[in-house]
Amino acid sequence: MAAAYGIEGYCRDLTRLIGPDTPAEKCVEIARERCASMLKRGLDLRDEFKVVVPGQYSRNLVHRDPRGLFVVIALLWKPETASAIHDHTTWGVMGTYESAIECTNYDRVDDGSTPGMAQVREREVIPSGEGNVEIVLPPRVDIHRMRNPTKRRTITIHTYGREVDACNVYDPATCRMGTVSLRYANRPGEIPGASRIG
Ligand SMILES: [Fe+2]
Repeated sequence: MAAAYGIEGYCRDLTRLIGPDTPAEKCVEIARERCASMLKRGLDLRDEFKVVVPGQYSRNLVHRDPRGLFVVIALLWKPETASAIHDHTTWGVMGTYESAIECTNYDRVDDGSTPGMAQVREREVIPSGEGNVEIVLPPRVDIHRMRNPTKRRTITIHTYGREVDACNVYDPATCRMGTVSLRYANRPGEIPGASRIG
């Protein structure tokens, strides 16, 4: 039987394959392929990365590259919940580990001239089942919403090209844009700043 390929192997490969000069397009390509391989080869996510806090979803820090080139996060989604529409302003890959997730991508359609305001329009809805890996790659693919459409818990494994301690959020109804600080459920108190906007 082939040796299991889990989080450690995945992070080791990304450390080896991603350097400070690796273009974002290449980082996405590498992380997407490696993440798909990890999901296919029987990832067994440890309980230390499954900490749940109040709210729609819980973010667990899995690995922080000491060079600051990427982070790996496990997200636990409660049944039938969704994130706000948000961005990360960095490359990212999102692999579905347990159950299913739906990723809706948006285009920003205003000219950005009014501070605090942004108009976004839905572009596409991408359903993702177990083993699937989706990507974000600014500027073309950045603003999105993730939703657990199922009646079960969903777990997704995200890799981003930087520490995502805050992100922009977008409200299509009011065209208002805000900022949310993000924390890790399994690292309470590590990153200051509680969530200010849903
Ligand atoms: Fe996201």
